Amino acid sequence: MTVIDSLPEFIAAIDKMGELHRISTPVKVELEMCEIADRVMKMPGGGPALLFEKPVLRDGSISKFPVAINLFGSMTRMAMSLGVEKLDDHGDRITKLLDMKVPEGFLGKLQLLPRLMEVAKFPPRMASGTPACQEVVWTGDEIDLDKLPVLTTWPEDGGPFMTMTAVVSKDPARGIRNVGMYRVQVLGKREVAMHWQRHKSGAAHFAEMAARGERMPVCIVIGADPASMFSASAPLPPNIDEFIFAGFLRKAPVKLTKAVTCDLEVPADAEIVIEGYIDPAEALVVEGPFGDHTGYYSEADLYPKMHVTAVTMRKNAVYSATIVGRPPMEDFYLGHATERIFLPLLKLTTPEIVDYHMPAEGGFHNLVFVSIKKTYPGQAYKVMNALWGAGLMSLAKVLVVVDDWVNVRNVQEAWWVALNNIDPERDTRFTMGPMDVLDHASRAFTYGSKMGLDATRKFPEEGFTRDWPKVIEMDAKTKARVDELWPQLGLGAGK
Ligand SMILES: Cc1cc2nc3c(=O)[nH]c(=O)nc-3n(C[C@H](O)[C@H](O)[C@H](O)COP(=O)(O)O)c2cc1C
Repeated sequence: MTVIDSLPEFIAAIDKMGELHRISTPVKVELEMCEIADRVMKMPGGGPALLFEKPVLRDGSISKFPVAINLFGSMTRMAMSLGVEKLDDHGDRITKLLDMKVPEGFLGKLQLLPRLMEVAKFPPRMASGTPACQEVVWTGDEIDLDKLPVLTTWPEDGGPFMTMTAVVSKDPARGIRNVGMYRVQVLGKREVAMHWQRHKSGAAHFAEMAARGERMPVCIVIGADPASMFSASAPLPPNIDEFIFAGFLRKAPVKLTKAVTCDLEVPADAEIVIEGYIDPAEALVVEGPFGDHTGYYSEADLYPKMHVTAVTMRKNAVYSATIVGRPPMEDFYLGHATERIFLPLLKLTTPEIVDYHMPAEGGFHNLVFVSIKKTYPGQAYKVMNALWGAGLMSLAKVLVVVDDWVNVRNVQEAWWVALNNIDPERDTRFTMGPMDVLDHASRAFTYGSKMGLDATRKFPEEGFTRDWPKVIEMDAKTKARVDELWPQLGLGAGK
């Protein structure tokens, strides 16, 4: 597959797949676009990607920036955006990279070379010449965020929000970059509120800058190569630069350029970059409410205000957005890519994990099914504790552990087995921990209980001494006979 370097290339690739739907009817950025996108995202398979060619701004004028939505919103588009046929292919690449034991013999060692050469492609490179993302530059009084087609998604939202962002910042002590997908509320022509939640790297950088009493440079990227945009949403450890990870996914470096008014680098081929700074000496501002991933409104809260010092863009920039709300939405596919790509990393520290799945209904944190190869008593609890200690997985509210043969990606199968296998009082454990900022039911903001359900087959040491029944299965001979008979039965293709 060819490497996709920019949003226009991504849109062209989707068009070629026959999955791009252009809308030339004028549609308001306030609510109307969201209602259309929501209906499309609820279509079987996630619906087509949408390109609104005539977004209607708040003053009634037609925006010169078309709006792209739902670009990642299907399994095939998500995989294509990351240059693979299926997302597990990246998981397999990670497994191979982690398995770096040096092979025997000269030829064996030679075979390592291509893998090591590939690693050299990961770090970003600086682009030469005038970058596409700076073909047009607004500074000073020219800056007017009202000219961008920023969506207001739900009726009780606190205002317009940019949603499909890659927010670039730097750890002031170690210089490590972070790129995070955080929503950004437009407060005025030159001011926005930055919604990085307390568990996220951007918030950690801000806390460090505030402790030093220094202004924090920030860039908001809208529309870049899809691997960079996905990486911004991925729960990478804080010391890994998302642009390096994007380089791994793309198998080619991300091309960066210096921002015009702040000391940060941004993707050279981005559509729009909003540059600015946050002054930690300034009071926090009210951000929200916002119709959120959970399908509920999240309450207004206090977040830092960013002052915009420049808006740079391509000549014919496309504005990209997503909407969140009652699942399933486009974010399910981004989360699903994370799920598949991070499986080998979870297995690295918890090798009994066979597979895991976060169903759309649970958002990212409410429900995680995990299958394990259980060989000793208490192992399901060991796995739960490991997951509740692993990065953003620590925010998982309900973990359901089943045996290795269960296909956890089939939610019906997972529940069928889990509900059969539990004695609720014996097999449920509660613990406490950090909760997602968006969880509205926990007893306190970002703090509450978690539930683990051990739905594995129980060992005698776990107090189970009765016989364990067999799962019903037809014998192979009868199955083969019915396969033969099937075409004569007039029952369709069957299985
Ligand atoms: C569409 C979308 C919107 C998101 N909005 C936010 C947000 O407003 N604030 C936030 O902290 N995380 C948000 N997230 C989740 C973060 O992008 C995710 O946790 C990511 O790992 C954060 O990066 P970091 O670990 O580098 O901080 C969003 C994710 C998606 C897919």
